[in-house]
Amino acid sequence: MDEALSDAADADDRRVGLIEEGGVFCQEGRIEWVGRWADRPRNLGDVARLDAAVALPALVECHTHALFAGSRHREFGLRNAGRTYAEILEAGGGILSTVEATRAASDEALAASLSARLEAFRQLGCGVVEVKTGYGLEHEQELRHLRIIREVANNAPVEVVATYLGAHAIPPEHRRNRDAYVDEICGRTLPAAAEAGLADAADVFCDRGAFTAEEAARILGRARELGLARRIHTDELSASGGCAVAAAVRAQSADHLEYASAGDIEHLARADVACVLLPGVTVFLDTERRPDARAMVAQGLRVALSTDYNPGSSHTLDLWLMVTLACTLLKLTPGEALRGVTRVPAEVLERGDRFGRIGVGRRGWLLTADLPSWHALPYHMSAQSHIHRVGF
Ligand code: NIG
Ligand code: FE
Repeated sequence: MDEALSDAADADDRRVGLIEEGGVFCQEGRIEWVGRWADRPRNLGDVARLDAAVALPALVECHTHALFAGSRHREFGLRNAGRTYAEILEAGGGILSTVEATRAASDEALAASLSARLEAFRQLGCGVVEVKTGYGLEHEQELRHLRIIREVANNAPVEVVATYLGAHAIPPEHRRNRDAYVDEICGRTLPAAAEAGLADAADVFCDRGAFTAEEAARILGRARELGLARRIHTDELSASGGCAVAAAVRAQSADHLEYASAGDIEHLARADVACVLLPGVTVFLDTERRPDARAMVAQGLRVALSTDYNPGSSHTLDLWLMVTLACTLLKLTPGEALRGVTRVPAEVLERGDRFGRIGVGRRGWLLTADLPSWHALPYHMSAQSHIHRVGF
């Protein structure tokens, strides 16, 4: 192998904390020991032995819009014929068509489809999944959707983190009075969601055709006062100023970032805001603009990856596919991409103490892979039969 290539592979081994000839002990769903197999403690009693070439922690999916009804395949066709995502949204379609379908759907139907999607995420290797609202866009509807997420979470096969995204689009009934909707979010829905313990975090879509940086600052500032974590969709369709907002409110993450400039990235670095990159959107919407992932890494920023699973801009549940796309489209190294679906998203969701790494005390949900090396993980495009779940 070329020497530079082999140095890069060694650096990546260190980045993922590779243990060669390693072993893990789990008991009652908890990791009790991890290290080199030769150094294993002999006093742990009888254990079932499972041989695998590669072991890694369950994946963490930190950005989905998995609670929705309806289908947007017609819009997919329109884009195929040349219309853009932003044009469709501005004309009252896009997110707003899903809002109409989701408002009209029953609790049972929404719960059933969400449960099925969470099971699909588990099958693909995810142990934790974040789910956003944002297709209710009205006080009662948004609270109803948060309640459904919580109820489904109680019996879900994965851990669920709930995010209130009432600021996903300006609802049709407030088009001429958007301030009234921001007032409703800050004065009514956010406090109610926080008080009832229905949301772990709040999010805002800060972009052209959605919410301004000033509106995002107001909403996320309120979320901070209420003790909720903060997330922001920013710089997806245009340079929208959301990175400065994310830094000011000490957000857990800024997501999308296709149009984020060097100055924006500096804002994020100064406040240690993690970046969540969503390469499925780049492919699904066929956009040319890419987030500058290398500049983010160079600034010391933590980079997570996510499917952004939603009916409009990224209709996939496959986080393994994102690992491959992050390497090919965004030039992350395999190690950076792997951290982007384990350790970093676990931190973004404030679950780093139990997920995202194989460490003592963490949850014993693991993945094994029949591969010659962990370096082969991104080389396989999408989750395939070589990945197996252990413990969940
Ligand atoms: O993250 N950008 C805004 N929201 C979603 C898309 C939601 C939709 O189109 O329904 C996203 O891409
Ligand atoms: Fe999103």
